[in-house]
Amino acid sequence: MKVSVKTPATIANLGSGFDSFGLALPLYNIVSVEETVLPGSGIEINIINEKNNENSSLVNVPTDKNNIVYKAIELLYNFIGQVPNELKITIKTEIPISRGLGSSASVIVGGLIAANELLGHPADKKVLMSIATEIEGHPDNITPAFVGGMTFSSWEEDGSVIYRKLPWNDDWKLMVCIPDYELNTDISRSVLPKEVPMKDAIYNLKRTAMFVDALYTKDEELLKLALKDKLHQPYREKLVPGLVDITNNLKHTNGVIGTVLCGAGPSILIIYNGIGVSEIKEIVSNTWNYFNVKTNFLNLPIEKEGAIKIF
Ligand code: HSE
Repeated sequence: MKVSVKTPATIANLGSGFDSFGLALPLYNIVSVEETVLPGSGIEINIINEKNNENSSLVNVPTDKNNIVYKAIELLYNFIGQVPNELKITIKTEIPISRGLGSSASVIVGGLIAANELLGHPADKKVLMSIATEIEGHPDNITPAFVGGMTFSSWEEDGSVIYRKLPWNDDWKLMVCIPDYELNTDISRSVLPKEVPMKDAIYNLKRTAMFVDALYTKDEELLKLALKDKLHQPYREKLVPGLVDITNNLKHTNGVIGTVLCGAGPSILIIYNGIGVSEIKEIVSNTWNYFNVKTNFLNLPIEKEGAIKIF
C-alpha cells in the first residue's frame, strides 16, 4: 500500500506575529510513503525536484535515517510501540528550500499524515501536530501546512499545539519575492537576542492584537500598523540585504499594505490590495538588483485547505 499527501508551503511570522502567525500558500510538496514488500530492504528515501527550481541545497538533504521526514515517521511508529523496518519514502519538492517558505514543515506534515494512514490512523491530528512540531520546532509553519489558511499557534509546555484558524480577507493579495540565495533557519535564529527590551515586547504585543482585529474587521489601515515588528526583523536585516530598502521604497507605493520577511527569510512577502503590481515588482527588482540579487515573483492567493491525501 502506498499513500501520498500533498502539503502547502507556508509563511510564518507575518511581521509582528513572530513564532505565532502563519499562512499557507498554494505551492506544494508531495510525500509518498509505502511499505516495501521485500523484507530486509530497509529504509529507502528518494527526493525528486519536481520543477527543477533553484533547490541547490537539496543535494545536501539526508536520504538516510537522519532525514527529517523519516525521523517524524519514526516517532509516530514509536508512539504505537513499533519501529519502521521496511519503508519507501518519496519526496517530490516544488517548494524552494531555505527561503522561508516552510519546505521542511510541508514534508514533515505530509510524511506523518501518509504514514498515519498506512498504519490505520493510530494518531489523531493533535498527536500528529505535536510530533511534527517536535521534529520541526516551529508550530507557526506546521499548523498552516496542516490545516491551511491563516493561523496562530502555540507550542505548549506539555508538547501540544494550540491553534486557531483566522479569517483572511481575499482582497488582500500576496506577492512572494523569492531571492536567488538560501538562508538557513538556524543561522537566521542565531542572530536573535536571548532577551529583548520590554518596550519592544509591548510594541509587538499591541500589534498582534491589532492584527487579529484587522483580520476580523477587514481593516486595511489597522493591518498596516499590525504588520510592523521589533522582535525579529530588525536583527535579521543584516542577513537579508535589501530588506530595509525594499520596505522603505514600498512604504508610499499605491496599493501596498505592508512588507514582511517570510519566516526566517530570505524571501519577502508584500501584502497589497490588488493594485500597483508592476510598480511593486519594479521596485523590488531594482532594489535587489543593486545588491546583485535576482528575484522570482509569485502572486498567489492564500491556500485554505492544508494537507490532503491525493491517492
Ligand atoms: N518563526 C520561525 C522563525 C519560523 O522566524 O525563526 C522558522 O521557519
